[in-house]
Amino acid sequence: MQQQHSFGFQIFDDISELNKEDTALLEEARKTTQKAYAPYSNFLVGAAALFNNGEKVYGTNQENASYPVGICAERVLLASASMIQTDVPIKTMAISYNNLSRTGNSNIPISPCGMCRQSLAEYEGRTKQPMRLILSGMEGKVIVIESASQLLPFSFGSESMK
Ligand code: THU
Repeated sequence: MQQQHSFGFQIFDDISELNKEDTALLEEARKTTQKAYAPYSNFLVGAAALFNNGEKVYGTNQENASYPVGICAERVLLASASMIQTDVPIKTMAISYNNLSRTGNSNIPISPCGMCRQSLAEYEGRTKQPMRLILSGMEGKVIVIESASQLLPFSFGSESMK
């Protein structure tokens, strides 16, 4: 039997088309890129997230001279989230980046790497709530996804270990 999988997402021309709450979060993600530690890639990633209770948390990529030791902005954010608001669901996370490499652009949305998708899915499962994602660079198009897990179909999770 043939099966198919798909998911819907929204795409906007720029930040001005977002509602007030999403605009504020994306603006903070863009600003937070300034706090990235990315001297090796010059690819500064910033993430900002809004908890259900109105609190916010931030993350940036943290690189290392031993390259594999580096951590993505999303997982830095989730680790902080878990510490400061334990088990509180995250309603929305905005992810932005500033590509400072010589020929780089920062106007096309990026989406989380595979390892971060796994972490995002775990956080959703643990807090039993979908996490919206807002993806955009420093300017230009914005993609909104209703649940981070949609980026990881056929995922391995706690259910798989029962
Ligand atoms: N990076 C993130 O922080 N998040 C992403 O979604 C993609 C990639 C970081 C990892 C590394 O420090 C740099 O961006 C280039 O890959």
